[in-house]
Amino acid sequence: MIPTLEWTPEGVSFLDQTKLPQQETYVLARNYKEVATVIRDMIVRGAMAIGVSGAMGVALGIDRSAATTLQDLNAEVEIICDTLAKTRPTAVNLFWGIAQIRELYNKLAAENAPIEEIKAQCVALAKTLYDEDIANLRKLGAFGAELLPQEGTVLTHCNAGALAACGYGSALGVIRAAIERGHKIDVFADETRPFNQGTRLTAWELTKDNIPTTLICDNMAGYFMGQGRIKAAIVGADRIAANGDTANKIGTYSVAILCKEHGIPFYVAAPFNTIDPNTASGKDIPIEQRNPREVTHVNGLQVTPDGVNIENPAFDVTPAKYISAIITERGILRAPFVDSIKSAAKMQELVAT
Ligand code: MRU
Repeated sequence: MIPTLEWTPEGVSFLDQTKLPQQETYVLARNYKEVATVIRDMIVRGAMAIGVSGAMGVALGIDRSAATTLQDLNAEVEIICDTLAKTRPTAVNLFWGIAQIRELYNKLAAENAPIEEIKAQCVALAKTLYDEDIANLRKLGAFGAELLPQEGTVLTHCNAGALAACGYGSALGVIRAAIERGHKIDVFADETRPFNQGTRLTAWELTKDNIPTTLICDNMAGYFMGQGRIKAAIVGADRIAANGDTANKIGTYSVAILCKEHGIPFYVAAPFNTIDPNTASGKDIPIEQRNPREVTHVNGLQVTPDGVNIENPAFDVTPAKYISAIITERGILRAPFVDSIKSAAKMQELVAT
């Protein structure tokens, strides 16, 4: 399995995704500020991966704190969480991960637990979230596998794979699960301009796993759908609103519309912590705007004329009406998503009580 990120005694180690596929190198974040930089610079990226990175960043900040009183530590935890939360705005998993450690910290601090005990428990929880991410994605994969064709080509956009998580992946996890169950599937991967997650990351991790993969430019999907070559499309998600509207990598919306026109099922695969009950619909999802340089430059070389205006939204929102199903570790959710999301949320509460 690809070690996307890992807790080590020296800090959190991250596979540097900006260097793939040319180099497999690791970056060590020794403190929470370095974790924030790693997330902001997309050395680690993908909703599930940055969710657990956020949790590990808070745990690392608490663990490395020199505070000797809870009062001082409280003030530090506030700054740690705030710094990590400001790194990227769209994937709700980041805020979920930060909140997981924050809530445990608040509970232990309210109980006046010894600082060493608080540190140990926060670090242990961050490691548990890492293990749970992989376990949830395997469950999600098992649910989703049955939706994919027994044979044929499945299109994916961006990278919703092991690299976007602690392992296995969401959309690519479903593809992996289907192949493990005997489906004869090959993958068409959109290159995913401007950051090229498809070209650099999806193509890399699928070919490494010997999953037959064809890389296509983003503007080729319609051509192949028109030829009847694509049997299904599956993508991940960065935030799913309470009504099912889904934010994912820029270009996902266009793929969904193309699928609708061609009668191809369009699936979203995401763990339940990607669903944000506090966001009513897609129009409330904050969309990250990234550096224009990602558009103007390719491999460090400027490909645009000076002075041209650039827009670079990193995500778009696919309205729920274009989504055939949302695959989660709690099962397959269908429209109306307002209801299926609510029922799945209750299901977990019942299990938990
Ligand atoms: O900007 P990125 O590379 O972090 O965007 C990643 C995506 O859009 C993925 O498709 C999404 O996070 C789902 S996979 C966890």
